[in-house]
Amino acid sequence: MRVPLKIFIAGGSGFIGRHLIKAFRAHNHEVHGLARDRTRGKILESLGCIPIIGNLLTNGPWERTIEHFDVAVGCTKPGKRGQAPALAQIAELLKSHTDACSNLILSAHAAKMRGVILTFGVLSYGDHGEEWVDEETPFDPVGYGKFIGTARHALAHLSESKRIRATFLVPGWVYGNGSWFKDQLVPAFETNQARIVGAGDNYMSLVHATDLAEAYVLAAEEMGYAPRSEDRPVPRNINIVDDEPVRQKDWMASVARVLGKPIPASIPAEEAVAHGQLWVESVTCSGRVKNEKAKAMGWKPQYPSIQQGLPAAIEAVRKG
Ligand SMILES: NC(=O)c1ccc[n+]([C@@H]2O[C@H](COP(=O)([O-])OP(=O)(O)OC[C@H]3O[C@@H](n4cnc5c(N)ncnc54)[C@H](OP(=O)(O)O)[C@@H]3O)[C@@H](O)[C@H]2O)c1
Repeated sequence: MRVPLKIFIAGGSGFIGRHLIKAFRAHNHEVHGLARDRTRGKILESLGCIPIIGNLLTNGPWERTIEHFDVAVGCTKPGKRGQAPALAQIAELLKSHTDACSNLILSAHAAKMRGVILTFGVLSYGDHGEEWVDEETPFDPVGYGKFIGTARHALAHLSESKRIRATFLVPGWVYGNGSWFKDQLVPAFETNQARIVGAGDNYMSLVHATDLAEAYVLAAEEMGYAPRSEDRPVPRNINIVDDEPVRQKDWMASVARVLGKPIPASIPAEEAVAHGQLWVESVTCSGRVKNEKAKAMGWKPQYPSIQQGLPAAIEAVRKG
């Protein structure tokens, strides 16, 4: 049996982070997580993760605590907790996110770790209409991708110059028990306020939260158990999306069906802008994303399409 890896996670108290901790623990790895205060630390503890108090944006004793860990994982989001970012905040949030991820790379390098995994998102690729998108497609972020995806170039350059392996995971829209799915979409259906924005013909690439978490474990194991090498490592992207991108209107109809609600009406994008320009750009962006690289890593989603994943996600939301 392989020795457990020592994983350091920044963002473990968030939506994606909580799923990651559960998955790493289920695979018997030792997980330590950065918590910005003791209350957030308690969340980590309840999931079997050892909290380390600190903030990615400030140097502190947390950096010495992680010496000789195996892999660092970043799934942080800049800005106020639970608040969707606004257009006017992009420059400030992009800077904050770039600084936070840069510090994670630098601290993982100083701690002599095997590598670092960072989180991007499919909105980083931008709008590609009917065309398929793979890891070679250049980033051209839209909507919420603007304050995350734009950091890729600087972070790739930094990890290369420090000769630390970096894997940039690019999840689709992550649905499951938390975040936008639980806090915005399901309540919007419950109160008959859900709407298809524009024609709804754009593609969305999605992934169930528990499947996403398994991909992080595979990526970390690949890095953590690889023999040390003197080669200059080149950062790589890996898309983590299910097998079947769906059109926005079909996604909304599927959610309606599983919730037992009517299929929502459409509203013009110009009207929906009242809910936020970035949100409208994000939900109308067409991203038909391929997952062959994740499959080559050995990733086998339990929910290869929303037909399998949605009933499980809604049951989890209902159970709380
Ligand atoms: N949710 C999705 O559907 C989705 C899809 C694709 C990509 N993504 C990307 O995945 C990342 C995580 O998303 P999420 O939905 O899990 O976000 P989230 O629930 O808001 O969690 C964000 C996490 O980041 C932590 N954090 C923020 N700034 C920090 C700092 N300076 N130092 C240490 N920790 C810090 C937060 O800590 P506190 O607990 O202290 O607030 C929290 O644990 C984001 O970059 C997002 O763009 C998300």
